[in-house]
Amino acid sequence: MAGEKEPGTRSATGEEGGEGIATSGAAPSSDYDHAGKGGASPRQEKGTDGAGGIPSFDVTMRLRRYNPELDTEPHWENYTVTMYGTDRVLDALSKIKAEIDGTLTFRRSCAHGICGSDAMRVNGRNRLACKTLLKDLDISKPVVVEPIKGLPVEKDLVVDMEPFFAAYREVMPFLITRGAEPTRERVQSQPDRERFDDTTKCILCAACTSSCPVFWTDGQYFGPAAIVNAHRFIFDSRDQGSDLRLEILNDREGVWRCRTIFNCSEACPRGIQITKAIAEVKQALIARKL
Ligand code: SF4
Ligand code: FES
Repeated sequence: MAGEKEPGTRSATGEEGGEGIATSGAAPSSDYDHAGKGGASPRQEKGTDGAGGIPSFDVTMRLRRYNPELDTEPHWENYTVTMYGTDRVLDALSKIKAEIDGTLTFRRSCAHGICGSDAMRVNGRNRLACKTLLKDLDISKPVVVEPIKGLPVEKDLVVDMEPFFAAYREVMPFLITRGAEPTRERVQSQPDRERFDDTTKCILCAACTSSCPVFWTDGQYFGPAAIVNAHRFIFDSRDQGSDLRLEILNDREGVWRCRTIFNCSEACPRGIQITKAIAEVKQALIARKL
């Protein structure tokens, strides 16, 4: 964590990038305060200017910044912007990038809670920036935004997701079947389909895995998301690779590392009962008497 440094001032302009990573150039190496267009006063109710009379307000976003090409350690910068009651954290970040500091870097794509690319820590809790309304946060104080934990920070709010996806790939998250290909679809009853309905909702955002203290300290633990995606196939009546996946998760860095502290279930933006899914995988292993 960066040490607090002397506040300074600077001006910056930039442009909103396309989809994917919102890339950045140079970033300052100290703690800064920035005001958006309109000279916003921090945390002031501004009324109903804007289309449709939507209430506006000023909010200070406190962002953890890090540019590996310039900084030896991360630091914090404050940005005060005027936002509306319908705006989300992602809108505030986009506004800062477009109007105040084009060097700000973060990931986003769909902006509607589907792609899973904008998981970040907002006020100490993992959330999707595109699903977090500013009006639901305490805007009497700065809204603190930082990268998710446990994965290497590449730049500002962007982390290297490769360790997360490596664990995901290891559990073979695809249908495994044997024998000749069927001549028609693989039929499944409604109750059989419901068996994995919850875990099939995963969008691979990493909010769960990066909220898990075992993952933070261990670094080798498969993590909740990989187990969720193994569960999705282990309990699929059409799949024939369950033994293989259970064998993989019976590893010392597999399901037995879970301490059932529910951080993952609380962090999941899809409301998946992750701790329950992990418990079911443990039970499946015990039932096989491994
Ligand atoms: S289980 Fe939930 S929190 Fe974890 S990666 Fe999937 S959608 Fe994200
Ligand atoms: S930008 Fe796609 S889930 Fe938020």
